[in-house]
Amino acid sequence: MKINLGDREISYDDRGSGQPVLLIHGYPLSRAMWQPQLENLSQSARLIAPDLRGYGESSSGPFDLDNPEPFSMEQFADDCAALLDALNIEQKVVVCGLSMGGYVALAFYRKYPQRVAGLVLTATRAGADSAEGKAGREKAAALAKEQGITPIARAMLPKLLAPAHLESMPELAAHVVQIMHSASVPGAIGALLGMRDRPDSTPLLPQVACPVLILHGAEDQIIPLSEAEAMQRLIPGARLEVLAGAGHLPNLEQPAAFNALFKEFMSSIR
Ligand code: MLT
Repeated sequence: MKINLGDREISYDDRGSGQPVLLIHGYPLSRAMWQPQLENLSQSARLIAPDLRGYGESSSGPFDLDNPEPFSMEQFADDCAALLDALNIEQKVVVCGLSMGGYVALAFYRKYPQRVAGLVLTATRAGADSAEGKAGREKAAALAKEQGITPIARAMLPKLLAPAHLESMPELAAHVVQIMHSASVPGAIGALLGMRDRPDSTPLLPQVACPVLILHGAEDQIIPLSEAEAMQRLIPGARLEVLAGAGHLPNLEQPAAFNALFKEFMSSIR
């Protein structure tokens, strides 16, 4: 399904009924990464999974490659809020974001706390980029401009899955590569610059007043487990579940365990 948001078109899945859940994908992925959740959790909730601007089947809107504007985490959050408005969802939603999707989930909570029934922060962190991290974003953005998505996807893949899964799950690895190739160059550059500029959300954490589940793969090579542990210490009442053996994409690497934890969290909210 698609909706128009001003100068861009946002594609999304909307499956199931009951408590609305917003599923926000990571970089440089798309809503296709939520397939195991869309298929297995829609009996217990209404799952709304957008492709963020510039990703999957969503357009990026006007974008000047020579003078690129960041896609801020707040703009992504605003797109999600506009999608909920277009779907007439007034009820509070559970916001589940993975990695960059988690940065967007925190931006959503910062701006629209009254719309949030709960947060599921997966493979993510609260802190801003270090100086080295910011320089890395700019290097990656320059590479995407010159050579497109392929070198980005090639560099990301070994870090996305747990080392053992790269070998043992070749179909999943190929699927993840295919998803990454649906990212547009404006999408990649806009998000890289938006992540570079994102604010530190750490001061927000002690103010979070909704139920929070933090999910993290023990083998995550992009965001270390210590980041999830730090968030749990700061968010009142947050629960942390570590998926042993999973890397940066626990919902795809261990869908059954991920879905079970998700369902349990959803029942605890009701
Ligand atoms: C993601 O998986 O969304 C990104 O790798 C997050 C990041 O680069 O900070």
